[in-house]
Amino acid sequence: MKAAVLYQVGGPLQIEELSIENPHAGEVMVRVAAGGVCHSDLHVIRGDLRAPLPVVLGHEGAGVVERVGDGVTDFKPGDHVLMLWRASCGHCLHCLGGRPALCELGAGIRWSGHLTDGTSRFRRGDTEIRHFAGVSSFGELTVLPQEGLVKIEPTVPLDKAAIVGCAVMTGVGAVINTARVEPGASIVVVGCGGVGLNAIQGGVLAGAEKVIAVDVLDNKLGFARDFGATHLINASQVNAIEAVKEVTDGRGADYAFEVIGIPKAMAEAYQMIRRGGTLVIVGVAPTGAEVSFNASSIMLDEKTIRGSLYGSCIPKRDAPRLLNLYRAGRLKLDELISREYPLGQINEAFAALGRGEVARSIIRFAG
Ligand SMILES: NC(=O)c1ccc[n+]([C@@H]2O[C@H](COP(=O)([O-])OP(=O)(O)OC[C@H]3O[C@@H](n4cnc5c(N)ncnc54)[C@H](O)[C@@H]3O)[C@@H](O)[C@H]2O)c1
Ligand SMILES: [Zn+2]
Ligand SMILES: [Zn+2]
Repeated sequence: MKAAVLYQVGGPLQIEELSIENPHAGEVMVRVAAGGVCHSDLHVIRGDLRAPLPVVLGHEGAGVVERVGDGVTDFKPGDHVLMLWRASCGHCLHCLGGRPALCELGAGIRWSGHLTDGTSRFRRGDTEIRHFAGVSSFGELTVLPQEGLVKIEPTVPLDKAAIVGCAVMTGVGAVINTARVEPGASIVVVGCGGVGLNAIQGGVLAGAEKVIAVDVLDNKLGFARDFGATHLINASQVNAIEAVKEVTDGRGADYAFEVIGIPKAMAEAYQMIRRGGTLVIVGVAPTGAEVSFNASSIMLDEKTIRGSLYGSCIPKRDAPRLLNLYRAGRLKLDELISREYPLGQINEAFAALGRGEVARSIIRFAG
């Protein structure tokens, strides 16, 4: 089967013919229909985010079950599935605490690049190729732990389901699950790419009165307006902190979401929230990067700083909810996919993402 392999930091991804082993016990082989192009993969390609190499990247995707390993009872060949980049075991400390995005099983898979039994299903000749976050959606076929899949209705288009797997679950979840934004609140979203646009539509779903979009590119602010932003701020042209205060009675917003991954932008987003406000960090900063906040302000202004991993989602609850909202016309997925590429043009897809040309793009597989 064909897949895009990253051999070294800096890339490019190479389209290779790989062998794929049948699913082991508790695993599922999926024929990928579409894989989303997320900035987290680009961070890995650029070396800002660690992943064991060589690897089949792609952590957003959907497809059809091809075959199942021993002991798999929830899935059968032909089922349509959405892939999760954080499998959750259901019984570790974090799963039991209602925070499956922090699951120890899923974290182990992510950082090892191996499936649960400590091995990979991908090889090229004698070379072992790793999995990425237990998904690896940039290949025609992949194998996942059954805990990393959600079954979906066959009527849901698989390309739309794919982007729910990361961008939508992360962006909407940061607003609804992590911050629990309440109706009438004001929010500012810094960075209006695939994930940030979903924080914007999460703000609309939550009933926020002001949804302030900040980006450095006018085309992104145009997408933000289409997704429901009420105020648009181009941070390359004006002082964004002052501009946010101007539209929030001089105080700052109730909530800010940093959805880029730049420490300086995180520190600025902290200054965009009012006293008592909450900053939610969604962007992935380069490994080892640090950020500083005024120490006395954290206390004097009672500000909260929170991380949001995978939108603090409960995947098997949230994925069906989001897809139902889409079917009811209340969640924009069609508008999110600005381009489709065949696997052979995956490096161009990442270049376009890096240049800021797309809202989200997907790799569409034939068949
Ligand atoms: N927390 C999580 O679980 C999680 C999940 C998925 C992605 N992410 C991270 O979220 C971030 C966004 O991902 P994406 O796929 O939406 O990326 P993207 O490239 O589509 O979007 C990033 C946006 O930030 C804008 N931007 C860049 N520099 C800016 C600046 N100085 N000020 C304002 N805007 C600026 C860009 O123009 C772009 O619109 C990445 O860091 C990604 O790794 C985190
Ligand atoms: Zn992602
Ligand atoms: Zn767990």
